[in-house]
Amino acid sequence: MNDPRPPRGEAALRGLAGEPVRHDSAHLHVAGEAAYTDDILEVRGTLHAAFGLSRRAHARIKSMDLSGVRAAPGVVAVLTAADVPGENNVGPILHDDPILAATEVQFYGQPIFLVVAESVGAARRAARLGAVDYEDLPAVLTIEDALAKQSFVIPSVTLQRGDWQATLAAAPHRLKGAFRIGGQEQFYLEGQVAYGVPGEDGDVLVYSSTQHPGEVQLQVAHALGVEAHRVAVECRRMGGGFGGKETQASHPACAVALAARATGRPVKLRYDRDDDITITGKRHDYLVEYEVGFDGAGRIAGIDLMFASRCGFSADLSGPVNDRTVMHADNCYYLPAVRIVSHRCKTNTQSNTAFRGFGGPQGMMAIEYVLDEIARALGCDPLAVRRANFYGPGRDVTPYDMQVEDFVADRLFDELAASSDYAARRAAIRTWNATSAIVKRGIAMTPVKFGISFTATFYNQASALVHVYTDGSVLLNHGGTEMGQGLFTKVAQVVAHELGVDFDRVRVSASDTSKIPNASATAASSGSDLNGKAAQAAAAAIKMRLVAFAAERFQVPPEAVRFAANHVKIGDLKRLKFGELVRLAYLARVQLWASGFYKTPKIHYDPKTLKGRPFYYFAYGAAVSEVAIDTLTGETRTLRADILHDAGRSLNPAIDLGQVEGGFIQGMGWLTTEELSWDESGRLMTHAPSTYKIPVASDVPADFRVKLWERGENVEDSIHRSKAVGEPPLMLAISVFHAIKDAVASVSGYEGTAHLNSPATPEEVLRAVAAMTKRQPVPA
Ligand code: MTE
Ligand code: HPA
Ligand code: MOS
Repeated sequence: MNDPRPPRGEAALRGLAGEPVRHDSAHLHVAGEAAYTDDILEVRGTLHAAFGLSRRAHARIKSMDLSGVRAAPGVVAVLTAADVPGENNVGPILHDDPILAATEVQFYGQPIFLVVAESVGAARRAARLGAVDYEDLPAVLTIEDALAKQSFVIPSVTLQRGDWQATLAAAPHRLKGAFRIGGQEQFYLEGQVAYGVPGEDGDVLVYSSTQHPGEVQLQVAHALGVEAHRVAVECRRMGGGFGGKETQASHPACAVALAARATGRPVKLRYDRDDDITITGKRHDYLVEYEVGFDGAGRIAGIDLMFASRCGFSADLSGPVNDRTVMHADNCYYLPAVRIVSHRCKTNTQSNTAFRGFGGPQGMMAIEYVLDEIARALGCDPLAVRRANFYGPGRDVTPYDMQVEDFVADRLFDELAASSDYAARRAAIRTWNATSAIVKRGIAMTPVKFGISFTATFYNQASALVHVYTDGSVLLNHGGTEMGQGLFTKVAQVVAHELGVDFDRVRVSASDTSKIPNASATAASSGSDLNGKAAQAAAAAIKMRLVAFAAERFQVPPEAVRFAANHVKIGDLKRLKFGELVRLAYLARVQLWASGFYKTPKIHYDPKTLKGRPFYYFAYGAAVSEVAIDTLTGETRTLRADILHDAGRSLNPAIDLGQVEGGFIQGMGWLTTEELSWDESGRLMTHAPSTYKIPVASDVPADFRVKLWERGENVEDSIHRSKAVGEPPLMLAISVFHAIKDAVASVSGYEGTAHLNSPATPEEVLRAVAAMTKRQPVPA
């Protein structure tokens, strides 16, 4: 109705939708003043908790002697499964994940008992004094072992279309192979933490570092055996979540609530880094097998894909994660005849969970790997093979029967190939490699298409609450959570835009189950899509009331009331400050707060057949990466990366650029240096930054050219036609993996192909180089 942009000559508004305002907490982040859960001032009498952990991967608990724990200095209480008054479970879908193991432990590091003590140190020291008598049971530790034993957390799923078998057999060329994709630790900088404060009459308030306060509230209520209205969960911000706090924040939250109930005192539990990595689930690692039939141009006719992922000991979110793998195994490519089989392996390891991309990255890695192999078999540029397989007119239905209506990857590819000078650089690299004996270079360009919406359709809803106070200041609350991604900033921009006021007149308060009930997890990159629309609806409702009031009071038609630049114009003659109109409206008894609700239209999906329209739209991107590898040490370095990413009409280009850069670097870590390793007893050996290598500032490509696609626009009616941007950029890093694969292939003068697993660690690169040159690998 109104354009809130200021008329010419008026002071520029700050922070409307589409402007690159800084993160609303940026000044607090840099000053160390942003309060995270562990920084909340402790209430008098606060106690600290620590879990006692299993030292077996799979065993029956024969007996437990906790007398040493109870007798340790400072210990106030020790809880076991028997002390859970309600349900002993934190499993979000299946109820297969105990808060405290009762009779059996299912992974090395599983919590068995909870110590509550006067200090963090006292609790942690006492937790080591538990004497548990185990009877070992056979442990399943690997995907292969789980497949052999048919050990699954939930049943396998098959998606198929067309006569893939006959099509494959009839194709002029065929390839068959297998490779691995590693897992990834979320490594949020703030570890899992919860602080429970008992209230009157059995109520409890839990401060939780969680992406899903509503679920933590329910899990705490179930554990305590009380109704949800007795439990409030609050989160102002997380120091990163990356999916790791979508379900697994429930565990410490339930623990502190139980301990607060048992002791009547406030209790805090913060995992230290080693415990965090030992206890919590990660990105699923996968074994992938494929067989593909294609023509002389590399165009796929038929494909058979098998995915087997390590889910860990319980189901957690493994169902939807693996579904998303299946639904991203097409990436940008039309697969005419296809079968995709997905096994969800149950292993005696941490229960794997959400991580940026939620299974999508693994599906996309698979098809990109297959296309690269096709190109190398045919001896052509992988870019040409990728192009030949793109969705296009008449080739635009996904294996799960969704019509691709917004395909732009071809345009992104063209623009980026030109701006990055791909062809000339590829030729130059080949020339350079011919004379460089030890260091080899490689280049690759890969696209991203990522489906936006929760695959569980019911999650695609959101609520918001907007209060306008009589001084014209605005308080915003919505069901989303802030984890550094800038959601609070973006949604505040939407509200400022709607009311025509400056961004700094809108304040966002902590996520709170008492303000917004039943909110979905902030996940699936949908935070700003869902909460932005809900908040816009709430602000629009208030604005409508103000318009009606002003029209009546000043005797003008409603169309003559315009909100802009912190003012309201009423007809051509009158102009009030926003706050002045609000004050008049208040005196006239106009309701100055409103709620808003949004549900994503058009989506539906059958979880059994995996067919339907699970996604409202797709987000796209493309990246070209150039790497150098040292063929004697296996070291790799990304020299240059060019990225073009489609964030639609970006709500905040500064924040979105940050998401693209961060996502890419995090994806690079996943595919190059981050390696998880368990010993034969099932103990995770890589449980600290000393043994688990995430990217650091010096790993950022020296030449890093990141751009949002200026022509980007959402064809669907999303909030201000923007596109979700949280997860998709992670998958741009697949270009780094393929650039490394390209560099390895140069070792044999591009004869044949490099069999390279992910992560492409120095060891893996060395192994692949040795295989290419038929040399024996250098002994360790
Ligand atoms: N960015 C930061 N800084 N920290 C995070 O934890 N999580 C990612 C992404 N970007 C994350 C992040 C993940 S896994 C998701 S699903 C989205 O942010 C969630 O937020 P959004 O829906 O508001 O984009
Ligand atoms: N993405 C992220 N988180 C989720 C999803 C999803 O599709 N479904 C349930 N939780
Ligand atoms: Mo993100 S993995 O959907 O929390």
